[in-house]
Amino acid sequence: MKFRTKAIHIGNERDPQTGAVVPPIHVASTYVQHHAGEWREFDYSRSGNPTRKNLETTLASLESGCNALAFSSGMAATHCVTMLLGSGDHIVAGSDIYGGTYRLLHKVVDRTNVTVSLVSAKDPDALEAAITPQTKLLWLESPGNPLMSITDLAACVEVAKRHGILTAIDNTFATPVLTRPLELGIDMVMHSATKYLGGHSDALGGAIIVADESLYERLYFIQNATGAVLSPFDAFLIARGIKTLAIRVREQCDTAQRLAEFLNADRRIRRVLYPGLPSHPGHDIALRQMDGGFGAMLSFEVDGDFAKAKRVVESTKLFQLAVSLGAVESLIEQPASMSHASYDAADRLAHGISDELIRISVGLEDSDDLRADLDQALDA
Ligand SMILES: Cc1ncc(COP(=O)(O)O)c(C=O)c1O
Repeated sequence: MKFRTKAIHIGNERDPQTGAVVPPIHVASTYVQHHAGEWREFDYSRSGNPTRKNLETTLASLESGCNALAFSSGMAATHCVTMLLGSGDHIVAGSDIYGGTYRLLHKVVDRTNVTVSLVSAKDPDALEAAITPQTKLLWLESPGNPLMSITDLAACVEVAKRHGILTAIDNTFATPVLTRPLELGIDMVMHSATKYLGGHSDALGGAIIVADESLYERLYFIQNATGAVLSPFDAFLIARGIKTLAIRVREQCDTAQRLAEFLNADRRIRRVLYPGLPSHPGHDIALRQMDGGFGAMLSFEVDGDFAKAKRVVESTKLFQLAVSLGAVESLIEQPASMSHASYDAADRLAHGISDELIRISVGLEDSDDLRADLDQALDA
């Protein structure tokens, strides 16, 4: 089956009892057993739930994995990955990562005596140079957040394999429509399902998808022991969103490309960060690695300072001033004061996340309306 067919049919089988074309939402917290100590497929909803299972089946199929786990949020999924590590271990992470991931690694995971080095993932040699005998995990994001840096995933896998370390990628921006990292040898794909998978800004969730059953078992053990599972209602909403994922993402990519070209030609803009522009340093890798589109996230720096960028994000009318991304409505934000405010300021600036940077999530509105909205806001 092709992607769009799988998104609709895998994990969404009709209900055998009633014939309902949409599987029912299973709300029970516990399940009756036939015999003491002999467990049926489901026993308690933290350990497994039919609605969640359906979504996990869909996700595993779309990401070319063998199995998946759905979490209460993207951060819960990322945290589960970090719990594979123990005291003394080391993580090498791309420097262009979600601010909440930076906070988790530097301000929570560090309490377990796990250390982190941030390195530009655009350069596999730099990643390799940061690896020590204690390194157990390479954490990647491509396109990176908020600089849209592109990481050569196959090259990173080669580096990781040479050193026998696990690789994980936050695939939230690319979605499996554009990039399927497990096919390139990455060990774990993580998603904030809150974003494109759900697609309508009305559900919070996360996921990990893997291609190796023993890795799945280790992650499942942690998830079941710690309990950050996805609710059946949110699982239903995310499963519903996934049915239109490919169509939404492709349309959003087209609009993002048009807006990037418009901004790139505008004298009020200092630089545009979008992998679909031939001038983007990761354009050639993105052409190879991303399947027919460059994503619907883009960032740009206004010709001005923090205050100018703040005025622009506060002046759009269709682009709503909010963090998050990946839904039908377009959003705008200033990373320095919003999505990446949890970076230490020095680290943020050192990694190129400037005060005048603006990030937009391109939705499904008409591209002419979105362009006109940016145009009037840039005059603010
Ligand atoms: C790229 C990326 N990864 C992870 C997360 C965290 O996901 P959640 O908010 O679902 O916990 C976000 C949230 O904004 C994100 O943008």
